[in-house]
Amino acid sequence: MKIFEALRQDHEKQRLLLKILAETSGDTAARREYFNELKAQLESHAVAEERHFYTHLLEKDETIALTRHGIAEHHEIDELIEKLEDTDMSSPAWLRHLKSLQEKVEHHLADEEQEFFQVAGKVLNDRQKTKLAAQYRQEMQQELEAASATA
Ligand SMILES: [Fe+2]
Ligand SMILES: [Fe+2]
Repeated sequence: MKIFEALRQDHEKQRLLLKILAETSGDTAARREYFNELKAQLESHAVAEERHFYTHLLEKDETIALTRHGIAEHHEIDELIEKLEDTDMSSPAWLRHLKSLQEKVEHHLADEEQEFFQVAGKVLNDRQKTKLAAQYRQEMQQELEAASATA
C-alpha cells in the first residue's frame, strides 16, 4: 500500500462519520458517540498525516505552499471541533457548526486528494510512498488508542 491509499481510506471514514452525524438530532447517545469517534479520527489523522506525509514535503519547492496551506486548514478544523465541544448538543447551533465542519473537512480532503497528492506523487519515490504508508498507519493506530484511553 502507498501513502495516498492509506490517507484516502481514512478520509472516507471522516466523510462517512460527518454524513451520519449530520443526520443525528439533539443531545443523544448516538450523537455523542459518533462525535467522539469523528473527533478522534480527525485529530489522529492530522497528527499522523503531518508527521508521516507533510513533513517530507515541507522542504520541497514544489510542495511547500501546498503543505503550509494544508497545515493551516488542520488548525481551522481544530477550531471548529472546539466550537462544537463548547456548544450545547441539543441546540440548533450545534448542527450549524457541524455543517461548517463538514464543509471545511470536505474542502480540505478534496484539496489533498485532487491537488496535493498529484504533486506529492511526483516528489516522493515508490519506496518512500510505501514506507510512509506503514509509518502513517502505525502512528494512526497509536493515536486512536491514546484517544480512546482518554475519552
Ligand atoms: Fe488528509
Ligand atoms: Fe489533512
